[in-house]
Formats: sequence, C-alpha cells, structure tokens
Amino acid sequence: MNCCIGTDVKRAARILRTGGLVAFATETVYGLGADALNTGAVARLFDVKNRPRFDPLIVHVADVSRLEQLTTSVPETARKLAERFWPGPLTLVLPKTEAVPDLITAGLSTIAVRIPDHPQALELLRTADLPVAAPSANPFGQLSPTQAEHVADQLGDRIDYILDGGPCRVGVESTVLQLSDDVPLLLRPGGLPVEQIESLIGPVRVAEEAEQPTTHTRPSPGMLPKHYAPATPLVVQSANVPLLSTAARVGLLTLQPVDETSQFTSVEVLSPSGDLTEAAAGFFAALRRLDAEQLDLIVARPFPEHGLGRALNDRLRRAAQKP
Ligand code: TXA
Ligand code: MG
Repeated sequence: MNCCIGTDVKRAARILRTGGLVAFATETVYGLGADALNTGAVARLFDVKNRPRFDPLIVHVADVSRLEQLTTSVPETARKLAERFWPGPLTLVLPKTEAVPDLITAGLSTIAVRIPDHPQALELLRTADLPVAAPSANPFGQLSPTQAEHVADQLGDRIDYILDGGPCRVGVESTVLQLSDDVPLLLRPGGLPVEQIESLIGPVRVAEEAEQPTTHTRPSPGMLPKHYAPATPLVVQSANVPLLSTAARVGLLTLQPVDETSQFTSVEVLSPSGDLTEAAAGFFAALRRLDAEQLDLIVARPFPEHGLGRALNDRLRRAAQKP
C-alpha cells in the first residue's frame, strides 16, 4: 500500500523526529529524508533505496549555524560560497565532526552539506529542528524524482510520508564541491553552474573519471558511472550522426525541435527556445515519459557544454553507461 502524499509539514517533521522516512521537495529534486544523527533511521534509508553503504549522503540544514555541530572548520571560500549561493543548489564537502555518524559519510572524514532553496523544505528543517540526510528519493541508480507522484511510483510503499512541494524548479541535483583540501574540487556538476562558482572564488578543479575509481577510495563514491538511468537503453548521439540502431521503436530527447522526426516513435523537446534552465527543469520528467513508452532505445542529443548543460550532459553520460 502506498504511503500518503500531503502538505502537512508538522506531520512530516514529527515523522522525522521519531526516526521515520519522509520524501520532500527541494529546488533540485525530491529528497528522501531521515534524521542524520539517528543511525537506525539512516540505515533504513540506505535499505529502502537499495543504496550501497559506500555512497555517502548529503545532510540538509536550514541555517549555517548548524554547521558548527557537523563540521570542524569552515574555510573562508566555503563561507563566501555559502553567503552568495545558500539557500541554493550547491553542496559543500567539508571536514566532519565526530557527531556525524560514519554511516552518513561512508566512513570518510568529510561531510556534504547544503541549505535547500525551497520554502517548504526550509520550514520542514526548521520544524523538525534536525540535520536531515537526504539522497534523491529514487531507488539507487534510477531516475531522480522531480514531482511527488514520481516518488509515490518508485518508493511509495516503502516510506512514511511524501511531502508534496510541487514540481522542482531546478530539476537537476546540486553541484557538489569539495573544500576540505586547498584547491576546490568539483565532484558533481549540478544545479549551480560552475561558471558562477568560479566567478566568485576563482578556478575550480574538475574531478576526472580517473579520480573516481570504482572502489570506496573515490573522492565522491556516489559518482558511479551508471546512474540516473531509465530502464530503456539510452545512447547519446549528435544530430548529424546517422541513427546507428536498427531498433524498432526509438524515442528522442532533444533540447530544441529537430527536422527529422519521422524515424522516432516519440520526441521530447526540452526547450523550444534552447533555454538550459527550462531544459533542466523538465529533464527527468521527460526521460520518465520516454521510459514509460516501451521503447527499444532512447536517443539523447548532447546539450551545449556550458551552464546547466554540463550537469545535463553528465547525467546523460551516466544514463548511457552499460551497467
Ligand atoms: O540536489 C541534491 O543534491 C539532492 C537533493 C535531495 O538535495 N540530493 C542528492 O543526493 O542528489 P544523492 O545522494 O543522490 O547524491 C549525493 C552526492 C553523491 O554523489 C555522493 O557521493 C556525494 O554527494 N557525497 C556525499 N557525501 C560526500 C562526501 N563526504 N565526499 C564526497 N562526496 C560526497
Ligand atoms: Mg541520487
């Protein structure tokens, strides 16, 4: 049986305080929240998502004053970034305190934290008065949810409440930036374009795939190659490449309208005007619709490699990986 979808923040907060699991909207994607300091609740969160324990979680707070409990030091660059971009789609990886259970950080000495930019999420965090661990509210490796109904479809029978905050405004997960070393390291491109980060703090080093080994020694263990994936096979192909596949039913995911649509069973245009913000907001929902059409293959056109296009290309590359 499905748990309920509703807008009762007090109820959601009560569930979190008593060790339950609540899905809630953020500006990026829906998160599946648990009290970050309650190891029983966090263990259940891993189980429900079927998430490997070596993949650490982002902790959500309503206020920077919470960092004191969670991080041993907040470097000047982190303060600057927090001041400019929080609340917002930026996750900072900082040295952690002993108060943070190892389960949250997968045994790493750092913790990932952010203040989400969604009024209902902030109200929930304030009412619960807890740091809330929240990975995206989907089974591990699958498409991220950007509407309450997506969560209900994927995890509805396994969690305690879905707090409906409407469709997510940004639509792609937060940018993850590690600041525990001297040079800021981009671990995941996301909802805050890296150009904006660099204009504030100078050059950022981008973590290479090679720096993200397949073992638990990778800097961001969650950056597994195969991720954010529909069930239907997906390939990334430029427009001028002839369709290599002989698959019968092929869907197309494209930023802007294309001329040649006759070879596709179904076409999803993300933004007729080519606006990457609009494209990101609709990205996961469009993939979900294509995934529901019993296609043999989804062809995705690459996005321009700037702004939110970088995050979208990253998600496409991971969706296209063979398991
Ligand atoms: O927008 C978002 O970030 C969403 C919403 C719900 O806030 N959350 C989200 O969480 O995308 P999740 O669990 O799907 O992704 C967390 C990412 C993973 O790539 C994980 O490896 C990385 O953050 N991460 C977490 N803690 C880390 C740490 N201590 N060091 C390096 N990477 C870390
Ligand atoms: Mg995720």
